[in-house]
This record gives sequence, C-alpha cells and structure tokens, in this order.
Amino acid sequence: MITFDESTGIFHLRNEKVSYVLQLVRGKYLLHRYWGKAVREFRDSRPFQAIDRAFSPQPAAYENERTFSLDVLPREYPDYGHGDFRLPAYAVRLADGTTVTELWYDSHEIKAGKPGLAGLPAAYASDEEAETLTIRLCDTNDVLVIELQYTIFADQPVIARNARIINTGELPVDLLNAASFAMDFADHDFDRVNLWGGHAAERSIERVPLMRGQQENSSRRGASSHQQSPFLALLRPDTTETAGDAYGFSLVWSGEFSFKTEVEQFGSTRVVGGINDFEFKWQLEPEAAFQTPEALLVYSDAGLNGMSQAFHNIVREHIVRGKHQHALRPILVNNWEATYFDFDDEKIDKLADCAADLGLELLVLDDGWFGKRDDDNSSLGDWVVNLQKLKQGLNGVAESAHSRGLRFGLWFEPEMISADSDLYRAHPEWVLQVADYPSSFGRHQLVLDLTRQEVQDYIVESVSKILKSAPIDYVKWDFNRHLTEAFSLSLPADKQGETKTRFVLGLYAVLERITQAFPEVLFESCSGGGGRFDAGMLYYMPQTWTSDNTDAVCRLSIQSGTSLVFPPVTMGAHVSVVPNHQVGRVTSLQMRTICAMAGDFGYELDITRMTDEEKAQVREHVALYKELRPTLQFGSFYRLLTPFTGKGNETAWQFVSEDGKQVVLMYFKTLAQPASPIRTLKLTNLAEDARYKVTRYLPAQRTSMDFGGEGSTSLVGQSFYGDELMYSGMVVEKIDTDFAAYLWVLEKE
Ligand code: DGJ
Repeated sequence: MITFDESTGIFHLRNEKVSYVLQLVRGKYLLHRYWGKAVREFRDSRPFQAIDRAFSPQPAAYENERTFSLDVLPREYPDYGHGDFRLPAYAVRLADGTTVTELWYDSHEIKAGKPGLAGLPAAYASDEEAETLTIRLCDTNDVLVIELQYTIFADQPVIARNARIINTGELPVDLLNAASFAMDFADHDFDRVNLWGGHAAERSIERVPLMRGQQENSSRRGASSHQQSPFLALLRPDTTETAGDAYGFSLVWSGEFSFKTEVEQFGSTRVVGGINDFEFKWQLEPEAAFQTPEALLVYSDAGLNGMSQAFHNIVREHIVRGKHQHALRPILVNNWEATYFDFDDEKIDKLADCAADLGLELLVLDDGWFGKRDDDNSSLGDWVVNLQKLKQGLNGVAESAHSRGLRFGLWFEPEMISADSDLYRAHPEWVLQVADYPSSFGRHQLVLDLTRQEVQDYIVESVSKILKSAPIDYVKWDFNRHLTEAFSLSLPADKQGETKTRFVLGLYAVLERITQAFPEVLFESCSGGGGRFDAGMLYYMPQTWTSDNTDAVCRLSIQSGTSLVFPPVTMGAHVSVVPNHQVGRVTSLQMRTICAMAGDFGYELDITRMTDEEKAQVREHVALYKELRPTLQFGSFYRLLTPFTGKGNETAWQFVSEDGKQVVLMYFKTLAQPASPIRTLKLTNLAEDARYKVTRYLPAQRTSMDFGGEGSTSLVGQSFYGDELMYSGMVVEKIDTDFAAYLWVLEKE
C-alpha cells in the first residue's frame, strides 16, 4: 500500500480507492503532490512549474536559483521563516528568542499496522488492515525533530495523520503551534463546508465558496463545542450529496481546535488543522515530545454521502472500541424531560413499570440522584446517593429496574464542581482558576482542574465507587459548561499555556481508566446535548447524546448535519412530549418516532401519562424498531434529502443493512403545502439487477382536513428492480398534513 521510489523521491500511499502522494525534493523538502482518486502509479504528469516569483525568497543554499522558493511550493507540514509566508503547520520559540527552525528530511519507515498515540484517542487497525509511514524531519541545528505519521487503511479512502515534535536540543523550546496536518491544493476551486451551531441547535451545514485570504472554523471554548465541530470539508462547486469530489477532515480530539484555509496569491489553497494555537504554548524540555491529536482525512468522488460513508466506517470499525462496538444498543427511557429534578424512587419505579410494559429495555436515571441536588445550584462533585429521594438506595432502584427486565443507567457530570458542594469546601484549589480573579460560572458550576493527578484520581475513585455499589449497566457522562479562567494553580507560570490541552489529556486519562475498569458498562457522552460530539469522545464512549433539542423538526437538521461525519449508531435520539420543551412545537408522534428511530432510539417523557391509544402505538413502534434495529444501527446510512438542500421542508434518509438485503426508507415533510408537488424519492446504493419487495409501509397520519388522498399509493407487496428504484424512483403518497413522516421497508428477493 505504501511505496517509496528513491529515484523520484515519491512516496505513494495507495489502496483501491485513494492515492496520497508526497515527494521529497532536493533530498530535503517534503512536498504534497496529490490526494484523490486512486492512480496506479504516480509518474508526475504535472511536474511542478518552477517560476521566478518576485518577493518569494530563496533559501540560503539556493540564492542564485530565483525559481526556487518555499513560498510557492506545495508543502506538507510547512514552517515559517525561510520564505514561505503562508500559514505554517507549527511554530516554536527557541531559548534565544528566535522562531526559526529548518526541518529537512532525515529518514523514513514503513510498517504494517497502525501504532497508538500515547495518551490520546486514535483510530486503531491490525497489521492486515493498515500500513503506516513515518517520516522524520530534523532541524539543521539539531534543536528539533518532527515525525509525521501517515496511515492508510486497506479498504477505506481514509488517511490518518499526526505529528510528533521532539526537542533534541539542550535548552527548553516553547511550542506555540502544532497542527495535526497541513497540505496544499494546487487550486482553490472549492466550497468550504463546516458544521456550526449552538446549544440545542448543533451541527448545521454551512457551505460557502473558498475565499482568497484566510477562513477559519474553530473553538476557543476548551471543548470541541456546539458552536463549531472539529470538521472541515472542501468540495468542488458542483459536488452534490451523491457525486463529485469531497475532501473531509475530522479531528480525533475533544478540546479546542482550528481549521484554517488560506488561498494565496497564485491561487493555491493551504489547509491546516489541529489544536487551536490561540493561547496554546507547550514547554518542551530537552528530549521531551509533544504528540498532536490525530486527523482523519477522507477523499470521496461520490459527493458528501461518499465522504460520510467513509467517516462512518472508520468511526464504527476503527474508533469505537469495546464490548458495545458491534452490540445492538438498547431502547432506553430517560427520566430527565419526564421529571427533571423532581423525582423519588416511587416515581422512578412507576416509570420502570410502564417502560417494561411498553417493551423498552433500559431505564436511565438522569441528573439529581446525588448530594442534595434538587436543582442545578449544588452538589456536583458529591457523588453520594441522596437517600431522601431514593429511599431504597441506588442498589434498590437498579435492582427494581432489573426485576422488571430492564437494564439500569445513571447520569454523572464528573468534570464539574458546584460551589455549594462538600468537594468545593474541601478543595477550592481543585477548580480551574486565576488566583486574583473571581471565577465565572456556567449553570452555577465551576470546572475541575483535570490537569491535576489528584483530581483525576478523585473522579476515577468516586465514579468507580458508585458503579461498584449497584448493578449499573449504562452511564451518561455529561459536561455542561465551557472553560473560563482556564488556568491551573498547580502549574508554574511558563506552563499555563498548556492548561487547556492538559485538561483534555487529563479527561482522556480518566476515561481510559474508568472505561477499562467497567468494560460491561455502555457509556454515552453528552455535553448539554451534542457539545462534545467528536471522534475523541467516541473512542471511549460509543454513543453521544446528539442534542438537548428533542423537537423532531429541529432534529432533522441536527441529525442530518451530524451524519456528515458520524453514523446513526453513535447518535442518541429520543421521542419526547409535545408541546416540545425546547421550542414549544407540537409534532405528530409518528414524526417524533421515525426521526428518533434514525439513531439510538429511546423515550424521554413521562410515559406513564400517555393515553392508552398512544401506548398501543408505542408498543407497535418499539416492536418495529427491534425488528429493524440491525439495519438502523449498523447498516449504511444515506441522506437523500436534507433540510439544508432544496427548500428545507423535506428530509429523506435511507438505510441499507450490512448484507444489503434490507432497505429502510424514511421521508419527512415538515409543513403541508398548497398545490404541493408529488415527491419522487430516488433510492441509492441498491443492486441494479436485484429485486426489492416493499414489505412495510407507515404512511403519514391523515388528518380529517386531508382532501388529497384519492386512492392509496401504497406499494406494499410489489417488487421493483434496484435500477428502477434508483433511476425512476419511488413515489410518496400525497397526504396533506403538517409534520408528515413515512417509513418503508424493502427486502431484497
Ligand atoms: C444536559 C443534558 O444534555 C440533559 O440531557 C440532561 O442530562 C441535563 N444536562 C441534566 O442536568
């Protein structure tokens, strides 16, 4: 998969889908030559055109060669200071105050498999599944070494990259920036796609033309954030959901990050991504190394869906780990929107009774079971059960759920501390803070200083104690504010620039210890919904609560946007009550249900208050979900229509089971329209020559005002070849109602 041709200096990482080509020139400089659809051999049919460009300097050794300048070369992990004025991939300040280093190729190594990254989450692969190239660059004055690592996976259009920066000198070096990857594209004929949002409004798709100068999407919040996701894609302007070039970048990192693009004077594009260098400074002692997080680079010639397929595969097969990686995820009921803080064990038992009766599988007790927490003012950090609320104790509540055939889950927010807590009274120094400034609050809470070993130990011990005290099958790990005054009382002045990075590394150390100690437990991460939905968290916890917004209309956008990078099996999705608690909207139960079925399905409302008719519907939905669950959780997922395309009123999602035999199709029309067109859905990724029989159909629920239904267009019982379904398409029965949701199941004959 990886070859090196000494005569041309060409490194070619190649599999059936993708080629990634680097070139060593003059034995020193590492250039980026090609990334895209696989080519059998890179013989350089477009050699680099050396041109004398004014104001583009020559490195000292090439003073008289006016056509040679780093400023115009397509580079891989570029420096700053020798004439390349574009965005650098790294920056250092040496002990003498200068920032100039000169890194030349030293050696390389190609090995089967993929090494792990010390202290960091990263994609993993066996020796058969991947090959890794490590290129070592050495500074000419011997103060720094940078090792660039590239892994290509056997059957995926994915390259994983990271950099390791080592101080080989005798004095400390300040690392001011350390990107996970950088590269240059020859042109700038691209659109730039990022996922932006806010709390309860995560991951909207933004697509804008790439502009001259710099553009950035980033987080300065100490976490990957609701506001921007650690993701960027570059698409050709004519790339669609199903066709055209798409280049996607996603970080396996949960802290603040940045993706920068720069279109420079001659029209090429540089992309740089990794930890945000804003406020970052890492003191590298002699012999010490800094490991950047990993970046996953996906190329697809099948548009955004093709890119998503590759991300989904890599996340499902090479990021998520442990017992639950391939296990069907349980249907849960969470008490948060049912009771908020106002519960006792009697109420929880009633919820359990009803959940068991409806066929649900996991009862999750959310916030409020510990300390004296009756609202969000107190007790974070005091992980001791509140026996006034739960008279049977945690063990009693968990056993009681188990006795009804349900699994039992519990909420934690371990990285946080309330000022009103025994923990804070004992250890005010354990909070991230600046000594002489009062700390800012978020949801009345402060953030624990996870750079401190004793804080990490406290979290591991207190959470473990609870997990050992009762039969707990599931944990929801929440994180409800971002970092402010992000400094540590335990670090010296010259290491304060490391605090936010060390916080995330501390979190990873804690997560590794807890998840390894409790391999049976299913962990779901959460950050006020999807504020930390990233591949780093998924390495430890196989699913994430996608958003605090449970309104089905909003969820169509949120889940469509999230699916750009993450597969449905990683997305918690629950049916909640109407009017919806976040936006007040009243949508049909069918729409809420079908939308939630496109994720890790569950309920988050007081199910005991449902009418008998609603309960009967829920029983049917639950039975249907159980039947379709392998396809919905582990099949391939395709966006046919999203709220970000067309007029935004329609969404269609398609799932195909792993063996290709079952297809589940969902269609949502948010608002009814007058003189509405008849919608045809063109399916995708079916076998052209196989026949598919429509075996199930849930039409939108008609209202008494519906005048449109002249004869049914149900196709149940009929079979069609894959090519007809894909190229001619399937018609959607016209039913005039707001919040219409349809579901079809097709089986390959
Ligand atoms: C924020 C989460 O996203 C909610 O689901 C819920 O767990 C609350 N926190 C509890 O405080």
